[in-house]
Parts: sequence; C-alpha cells; structure tokens
Amino acid sequence: MQAIVHYEYGSADGLELKEIDKPEVGSSEILVRVRAAGLDRGVWHVMTGLPYPIRLAGTGLRAPKNPVLGMDVAGVVEAVGNDVRRFHVGDEVFGVAKGSYAEYAIAREDKLAPKPANLTFEQAAVVPTSGATALQAVRDKARIQSGQKVLIIGASGGVGTYAVQLAKALGAEVTGVCSTTKVDLVRSIGADHVVDYKREDFAETEHRYDVMLDIGGNSSLSHLRRALTPKGTLVITGGETDGRWLGGVDRQLRAMMLSPFVGQKLGTFVASVRAEDLIVLKELIEAGNVTPVIDRTFSLSEAAKAIHYLVEGHARGKIAIAVHDINEGVTE
Ligand SMILES: NC(=O)c1ccc[n+]([C@@H]2O[C@H](COP(=O)([O-])OP(=O)(O)OC[C@H]3O[C@@H](n4cnc5c(N)ncnc54)[C@H](OP(=O)(O)O)[C@@H]3O)[C@@H](O)[C@H]2O)c1
Repeated sequence: MQAIVHYEYGSADGLELKEIDKPEVGSSEILVRVRAAGLDRGVWHVMTGLPYPIRLAGTGLRAPKNPVLGMDVAGVVEAVGNDVRRFHVGDEVFGVAKGSYAEYAIAREDKLAPKPANLTFEQAAVVPTSGATALQAVRDKARIQSGQKVLIIGASGGVGTYAVQLAKALGAEVTGVCSTTKVDLVRSIGADHVVDYKREDFAETEHRYDVMLDIGGNSSLSHLRRALTPKGTLVITGGETDGRWLGGVDRQLRAMMLSPFVGQKLGTFVASVRAEDLIVLKELIEAGNVTPVIDRTFSLSEAAKAIHYLVEGHARGKIAIAVHDINEGVTE
C-alpha cells in the first residue's frame, strides 16, 4: 500500500510517499481502508519528536517507532480481529489510527465510532482529535454553563472552531479571539463577539469572562488572569513555542501550581480520543449543532505541503488529506 513514512524525526521535508506492506490486524484491532485523514498539531509533534517528553510518552526515543505518519482517520472497515464486537466489515467509521496517512490503517476498537451520517469522509476525518479535545475542554474541564461569558483564544484553529460551536451549543455567550483575516470565519461558526488580536488586546477591554479557553498564542498567565472574573475558570489547552523540552508547557505547570492559592480555577489537561466522546460528537454533528470547518484538502502525496501550510498558520479551521483509494478511484 502507499503510505507517508518518516524514519527519523525532522521537518516535513523528510517525509516520503512509499509502497509498504499493508498492516495486519490484531485480535482486538480493526483494519480501516482509509478514505481520508485529518491533520492537526499533534502530527507535527510526532513528526519532529518535539517537545522531547513526547518521545518518552511512546513515539520512540531516537527515531519514530511507527514510520507511518497520521492519526485522525475516516474510512471503511476492511477486516476485524477475533475479539472485535462493535464493528463489521463494510462499516463506515471515524476515529484515530496508528498511521492514517496510508491506504490502510490499524485502529483500536475503543478509538473508533460509526461515521456521522451527514458528513463526507473528509469532513469526518478532521473531527477526532480536535473535536474530542474541544469537547473535553468545554464539557469536562471548563464545565461551561448556559449564560456564562466565555472567551476562546485561538477560535479560528482546529480545536477552536469546535470549541466555539460546542460552547454555543451549551448556551454560553462566546467571544472568539483570532487574527484579522479569520474574523469572518469565527463569526460564521456562531461566536457572539470576535476580538482581532492584531488590533486589540482581550485583557485591555472592560470585559471579564467566567470561562477562558486558551488554545492559541502564548499569553502569559498573569495576562490571561486579568481577563478572568475573580472566581472564573481558565483552561489552558495549548499554545506553541520553540521550547524543545517544555514546548510551552511551563505555563500549564505554573497554572496548576498557582490554582490552589487563588480564587480563580486555573488548569490544563491532556486530551484523549475515546469512542464514547466520538459518539457524542457524532450526535451533535448529526443534530446540526457542530459542523467541521475544512479550509483545504490535500492529496496523500501532498502531506508535506499540508503540514507546511498548517505550521505557517494559514489554516482556517481544519486540513484534510484525501487518500487515493485503489478500489474506488481517487477521492480528492
Ligand atoms: N491539551 C491537549 O491535549 C491538546 C490537544 C490538541 C491540541 N492541543 C494544542 O492546542 C493548540 C491548538 O491546536 P490546534 O490544532 O487548534 O492548532 P491550529 O489549528 O494551528 O490553531 C492555532 C490557533 O492559534 C491561534 N493563534 C496563533 N497565535 C495567536 C495569538 N498570538 N493570539 C491568539 N491566538 C493565536 C491561531 O489563530 P490565527 O490563525 O487567527 O492567528 C489559530 O486559531 C496546539 O498548541 C496544540 O498542540 C492540545
């Protein structure tokens, strides 16, 4: 099968499209014929092996353990292991797999769900990691309630576009923070107010927020706290820096250490894609409460170009990778 592989950590320029063996399914695993894959910041971290602690977390210490890149996937079940109960050959699924930038990928049963009926494979492929992260931030960490004033920093990105829609679905009054060219996008997905960070500082206005989700940029903790009500909740989800060891996680660590000593609740979390959350997202999508925002779809052979596009900050919402399907022609 065709796959995008990397044998060493490094930039997207080191990625190759290669013919490799189709993976074999284990007893509790599912072989998915990939129709589309999703791209998010996590793929860049796995590709570069940065920050270093992710290598200890399982990607491989000196070199990538799994040479095939990609996690988010949507496709059709090709084969199932003997212990798999929830899926059958021919089912349309979405979730995370071990190496989704390939014609076939292996996934665990607890990491897949039936594909939302109203989405294309490309739309479904951009939901799992970003959608589940946004859901866990909004529902589990911030516990957003109807009527709360919520600020979402990084509202135009992969996680942010889902977070805005999920917070709105819970009845919050949402303010999104993004750059000038993406203000229209953030408004179009339902934000009540938009702060263009190129022109205005969210902490320098008279507004104070009950909940803040910090998903983009690297505002200091004191800057973030200034915009939060005295009993408000801050959830730091991400933010990219060049730090090879901490990669920006130092803000998260300081937030956790400070939280017990102040009136505000300051926290962070590491998201995990689980079948039960994929099913919640599927229901919200089918009910029309959440719609994936796809900026561009690249072909499998253009995976490196897609990663450059993401890292350069051009993406409005999500990026999909359409996978050439030898059985059904080219999907892109
Ligand atoms: N905690 C977890 O488990 C978890 C899970 C998934 C992702 N993450 C992390 O979450 C972060 C966002 O992921 P993503 O997939 O949404 O990335 P993304 O698609 O690249 O989006 C990044 C967002 O950051 C915004 N941004 C950049 N500079 C900013 C600034 N100075 N002020 C305000 N916003 C700014 C961008 O807005 P403009 O484009 O408008 O500038 C964009 O909306 C990443 O750091 C990722 O690693 C964490």
